[in-house]
Amino acid sequence: MTIPLIGTPVPATGLDPLEPSFQNDPYPYYNWLLRNDPVHQGAEGTWYVTRYADVRLAMSDKRFGCASVRDFWEVMIGPGPLKDIMAYTLFFEDDPNHARLRSLVAPVFAPKRMRALGPDIDRTVDDLLAPQAVRGEMDLVSDFAAPVALVFVCDLLGIPPEGYQGVRTWSLDIAPTLDLVPNEEEIRKGNIAMGAFADYLRELIEIRKAQPRDDLISIMLAEVETSTRAGERPVSINEIISTIISVVFAGHDTVTNQITNTILALLRHPEQLELLRRDRGLIPGAVEEGLRYDSAVQSNSRRLGEDVELGGKLLKKGDFVVALMGAANRDPLQFDDPDRFDITRTNVQPMSFGAGMRFCLGAVLARIELRSALDRLVNLENMRLACAEEDLSYQRSSMFRSLVDLPITFDPVRDYPR
Ligand code: HEM
Repeated sequence: MTIPLIGTPVPATGLDPLEPSFQNDPYPYYNWLLRNDPVHQGAEGTWYVTRYADVRLAMSDKRFGCASVRDFWEVMIGPGPLKDIMAYTLFFEDDPNHARLRSLVAPVFAPKRMRALGPDIDRTVDDLLAPQAVRGEMDLVSDFAAPVALVFVCDLLGIPPEGYQGVRTWSLDIAPTLDLVPNEEEIRKGNIAMGAFADYLRELIEIRKAQPRDDLISIMLAEVETSTRAGERPVSINEIISTIISVVFAGHDTVTNQITNTILALLRHPEQLELLRRDRGLIPGAVEEGLRYDSAVQSNSRRLGEDVELGGKLLKKGDFVVALMGAANRDPLQFDDPDRFDITRTNVQPMSFGAGMRFCLGAVLARIELRSALDRLVNLENMRLACAEEDLSYQRSSMFRSLVDLPITFDPVRDYPR
């Protein structure tokens, strides 16, 4: 197959994902890389992998490790609560410890359990949308998408409604420090927030010890008590705290950004929005296409445990590898006309939830939330952007595609939900 040479040329010094034009719109860069240099050595020697098949390999093959990414992160972040707590996160573990922690968390995400949440999710989405629907305008990020994402992740973990605001504030302060590019001020704020979040969770753990419930905190606490698995080390309280904070991160900003990115794609393609309004059977397809077209998570980092040959290049042991899922989702070898947003595509299988032994545990929940949110939002008559396109901006991030805000207007709904 011949692929035309299009996109924004990557400078000879190599790709830098923190460059403002890349932050605003990475897709022309992905286009160029996919067609000219699919396994690319970027600024500071990091490898950027773009092809769908290569990204799947980098995200699922054990030679591409996560524990050694932690070594780098710990040096960068320095001493303090961030390091003390995140030293235990499953994101920075390889097997056998990754498998051990994942198996502790996985039961909470059992697909049957998640699907049973469907009606509750629809009800909560309606409750959160009602006050905005009456007004006829909102910032989709802070007025709707973030509260929706936060409620479900907190509920799953066992964090009560009084804790939601704290969790949101702390996680916003911690987020930049997990992105591998924080500055000194972000590290300072992140340490304060991590200390406060961990103290809050220690208190909550004491409450759940006395009164267990059907939530992740209680399920992990039961493992501390029993810890019967042969040959495995018992779960520690620090691991519980770290796991809870990790799941908040994994499930909060991701869903928030995916709701807003998908709605923005629909607003930019009014014929697709109209199609969806007329045929709700297309909602699941619109969710998959939204995940493919503009994924909330654009990349994940790994570090090589041994030399690997990929796309004709020799990647050396110790090298950093960034798997660009956002690029894989636009690979012309995987998708027909990949830059076209088309909610009628079938069998999409976006790379947005990762692959293999680290495949997103929250994918079923995320899809239910996204379907419910989309189904309600497309009901809003005359929904449109309430600012100029050039006023939209993205949070500085090497991993996430995260709009600062998304102001929209629509016809006010007097009696929502009807
Ligand atoms: C649109 C929303 C979401 C996206 C795009 C997303 C994406 C991802 C990706 C790419 C990974 C793999 C990371 C890697 O390989 O290093 C991952 C892992 C994970 N996700 Fe999600 N996620 C989303 C929502 C959620 C939600 C709602 C939850 C939970 C409430 C969640 C929990 C997790 C957990 C626990 C892992 C770690 C799995 C492991 O290491 O074994 N995610 N997610």
